[in-house]
Amino acid sequence: MEHTLLIDTDPGVDDALALLMALRAPNARVIGLSIAAGNVGLQHTVANALKLLDVVDQDVPVFAGCAHPLVQPAIDAAYVHGHDGFGDTGYTPSTRQPSAEHAALAILRLSHEYAGELTLVMLGPLTNLALALRLDPNLPKRIKRLLIMGAAVNARGNITPSAEFNVAFDPEAAQVIFSEWPQLELVDWEATLAHPVSRSLFDDWLGQGDPVARFYDAISLQTRAFIRGLHGEDFHSADALAMAAVLAPESVRWAGNFRVDVELAGALYRGATRVDWQHRDTRPANVRIAERIDEVSFHALLRRALGVA
Ligand code: BDR
Ligand code: CA
Repeated sequence: MEHTLLIDTDPGVDDALALLMALRAPNARVIGLSIAAGNVGLQHTVANALKLLDVVDQDVPVFAGCAHPLVQPAIDAAYVHGHDGFGDTGYTPSTRQPSAEHAALAILRLSHEYAGELTLVMLGPLTNLALALRLDPNLPKRIKRLLIMGAAVNARGNITPSAEFNVAFDPEAAQVIFSEWPQLELVDWEATLAHPVSRSLFDDWLGQGDPVARFYDAISLQTRAFIRGLHGEDFHSADALAMAAVLAPESVRWAGNFRVDVELAGALYRGATRVDWQHRDTRPANVRIAERIDEVSFHALLRRALGVA
């Protein structure tokens, strides 16, 4: 299998689309879902992950992680994703159960079992991974690839004027990862804005797809209306774009490698990321920033996620 994936996620409507892309990709095997709090509280993000596995009828272990950021409390994004994170459709909960193992411990265990093979995909706040890294600083040596959806590389944020949600939810965790992980890949919020999908096209796919598309149509209805209010006829899905970069790395044009730091203290800029575009820092550049992802390949992955023939 080309990609062996461990996905850390806070589903969340765009997380759900990204997870469908991965779970339905012929070139990927998902060996676990570690769950973060973020878009909504942990009990909902865990329940949503379990439900999504029902929808695709696949058995993948689900590991519940940290219910709160490392240091300071944060506000969720229920106003975007619904109180339950899946558009408040009142779906029948899954009877599946999460594993008893904590997400941070599962990340470490699986990194040993799949040493050198594993791609870690981070679609939510970085709390679980920061904790895992603190428990075992040698973790990066066993990971083939780490791709993070997060940050706003020119400080044009979404949750505050300057900060992106996943980083702003747990800035300390993000700073642990950005300052200590030797080399990671980043798909940021501004890249998301640069890759709109036309609403009518997306609606066509939802109409043409299989029962998975009908589930996605229902859970994403509220969020799509919210995005429409903000961006008009364009639909954006941050986590789905990040998953496209994971599944089709050849379709990514990279801006290059840069040093990225997280602002922790600022009253206006807490959670913002500073990219050293001019390579002034003497520390090695550690973040490979995605600039462009080929539209044809992104759309093909979205269609397959929704079961469009
Ligand atoms: C990120 O924040 C969350 O609300 C989304 O699920 C995505 O991971 C975008 O900034
Ligand atoms: Ca997410």
